[in-house]
Amino acid sequence: MSGRDDVVAQAEEVLRANDRGGYTVPTAGLYPFQWNWDSCLTALGQSHFDEERAWREVETLFAHQWEDGMVPHIVFHEPSDGYFPGPEVWGTGRPTPTSGITQPPVAGFVVRRLFERARDRGLAEAKARALLGKVDAWHAWFYRHRDPRGEGLVALLHPWESGRDNSVDWDEPLARVPTEGVEPYTRRDTQHADPAHRPTKEQYDRYLWLLQRFRSLGWDATRLHDASPFQVVDPGFNAVLIRSCADLADLAEALGETGVAEANRARASAGLAALEGLWSEAHGQYLCRDRVSGELVVSSSVGGLLPVFAAVPRERAARIARTIERWGERVTYLVPSHDPDDPRYEPQRYWRGPVWLVVNYMIADGLARAGEREVAERVVSSSLALVARSGFAEYYDPVTAAPCGGRRFSWTAAMALELLAAQRGGALTPA
Ligand code: GLC
Repeated sequence: MSGRDDVVAQAEEVLRANDRGGYTVPTAGLYPFQWNWDSCLTALGQSHFDEERAWREVETLFAHQWEDGMVPHIVFHEPSDGYFPGPEVWGTGRPTPTSGITQPPVAGFVVRRLFERARDRGLAEAKARALLGKVDAWHAWFYRHRDPRGEGLVALLHPWESGRDNSVDWDEPLARVPTEGVEPYTRRDTQHADPAHRPTKEQYDRYLWLLQRFRSLGWDATRLHDASPFQVVDPGFNAVLIRSCADLADLAEALGETGVAEANRARASAGLAALEGLWSEAHGQYLCRDRVSGELVVSSSVGGLLPVFAAVPRERAARIARTIERWGERVTYLVPSHDPDDPRYEPQRYWRGPVWLVVNYMIADGLARAGEREVAERVVSSSLALVARSGFAEYYDPVTAAPCGGRRFSWTAAMALELLAAQRGGALTPA
């Protein structure tokens, strides 16, 4: 793709081709259903050419929210045998089948952004009002069930909840999860994508062990946390939740819903204070905490840079910017998903090194808000250079720009539209 008009036209074409009516698949084949954070971020891209359709994307996701407030990570709208683990493995018993775990809660951030940029103000107000209570209920669910001791930060109970499925961050805590007793299965992901780019068999066994354990507890959120041998407090995930709480609070205020505003502001400030306990001066970034052992996990992944997306102290944001610059000396394209100086870094294996545009988008937004414009601009130009060279891939090699995983990816196309709009507007945070 050469010019910006080309990129815009092709991004729109990918989003329309992956549109299944009320929801958009991440990509045809590899991911044939609706994924939680993919959908929300995809809606941002859709809003550039069809606002009504963008709202519907988020509405469809929330139509499948559980009664307890959880919003599942996958909604299996239609049968498809191209994906494993499918609805019969999850066994959640939902009217429209869903998975039983969740994903990074970007909805609060996305709904606010859709609302603020909307040209159709009447539509935006009606849609935002209808979604407000639902997003708030999801946030409440997190603190009730994933922060049972009121620490201010929530735990992930499965690596898939992080959205960074096979990150180095999970290696140690996942080693505690057994592999015995996993029912026989056939993976489908390795039939669609290069196995060298995907998680290993051993990791997959442990993912499935956890799934089976939670299923045996009837997916009862009141029992899962304490019963899980995997409980990890991820700074990236928590930063997304904190940002969404803060954004939902602003939105609620604009809509005159003071109760929702106060509750979410309180969650955001408790979260920001608790996040400080994850800071590592030696690494120049935040680290995960393994809630089972109580220890910090020594793994410098992009999850520890993502807190810049929340309103962390200015000196933390500046230090994160310097860490990104250091990583940038080792690669051509920012931001690799793991520290290239770490021997565990793998430039083409999924979340162990490759660049992901959704993460870049959030990091650039946070850096720009913190006044780190130069690094923010580098992250944006890297992202657009990757798209120009290699299309809308699922993720990219940070040195060669090679496209990895699936192609024609919805959220990558959506992020290209977002970043181009931000650049055109002269701001890295599109309004
Ligand atoms: C993979 C990614 C996850 C994403 C999903 C669908 O599981 O790790 O973040 O939501 O694919 O694209």
